[in-house]
Amino acid sequence: MRSQAEGSHPDLVAAMHHLIDAGGKRVRPTIALLIGSMLGADVQPLRNLAAAVEMLHTATLIHDDLIDGALLRRGMPTLNAEWSPAATVLTGDFVFARAAKLAADTGSVTVMQMFAQALSTIVNGEITQYFRSRGIASREDYYQRIYAKTASMFELASGAAAVLSPVRQPVVEIARRFGYEIGMAFQIVDDVLDFTEEQTTVGKPVASDLRQGLITLPALYYYENHPHDPHMQSVIERNGHSGNQLEQLVEAIRESSAIEQSLIEAEAYVQRALDILAEMPATPENEALAELALYIVKRKI
Ligand code: IPE
Ligand code: IPE
Ligand code: MG
Ligand code: MG
Repeated sequence: MRSQAEGSHPDLVAAMHHLIDAGGKRVRPTIALLIGSMLGADVQPLRNLAAAVEMLHTATLIHDDLIDGALLRRGMPTLNAEWSPAATVLTGDFVFARAAKLAADTGSVTVMQMFAQALSTIVNGEITQYFRSRGIASREDYYQRIYAKTASMFELASGAAAVLSPVRQPVVEIARRFGYEIGMAFQIVDDVLDFTEEQTTVGKPVASDLRQGLITLPALYYYENHPHDPHMQSVIERNGHSGNQLEQLVEAIRESSAIEQSLIEAEAYVQRALDILAEMPATPENEALAELALYIVKRKI
């Protein structure tokens, strides 16, 4: 990942190092490496894939933070906190390009197609969210949204790792399915943490979804349980609610059973992911993937 910055403008080099040094959990490349190792992929193409996926993820975060106006990421100031929107967009584009280069370095046209497909799905999802009509979304809308923005990239990480391995198409499909299940769980938990954690813990702004009028699973469950809560209506319609109303609503959701209901749902996705692993080769990587799947619902960041 570091080597991808070499030879470019010093500000791009500095920005990329800033992003890479900030770390992050590196969940997606870990999945790619474990799936590929479990299924017998060659190390070098697999490493390129892992770096490509993490850089694709990083690029989407650069643009996402600009769009969301978020000033903190991985406990550090975002690029858009320090740079103009133009410089931020261009840096995101650069990181996308380097991610594509790494995907091409795997030498697999299929991997490149999957990469391009995942990126299209993500952008399509983001634009749908951007132009969405206000008001309560359905559960179905929510699943489509989190598939597009998150699970599609987990599918890419695991499916492309299988493509690079000496396995047949049905195994690639099973690997994709694993990525889908843990990706869905991952985003549900992210949406829960947006309510339950503090900014200092997660290293990014919290309660940000609702502030933007964006309904996630905890808010959906809360709404189903309290259809007449007056704060809920005014917050989602964004018709001049006060910051105080928003705080009260976040507090109410935080203390409600909606949190537990959402986590139960995330656990169901994780259980399906574990069932898939049971059909895969019983290797140490398989055990590590099972641990990672369980970590996804236990994590606090
Ligand atoms: C953040 O992803 C964006 C989501 C899809 C929830 P991560 O929680 O994996 O972010 P980092 O890479 O660890 O910072
Ligand atoms: C980011 O989604 C997902 C993409 C970058 C497509 P969120 O807006 O929920 O992620 P966070 O919460 O800022 O990490
Ligand atoms: Mg965001
Ligand atoms: Mg979020």
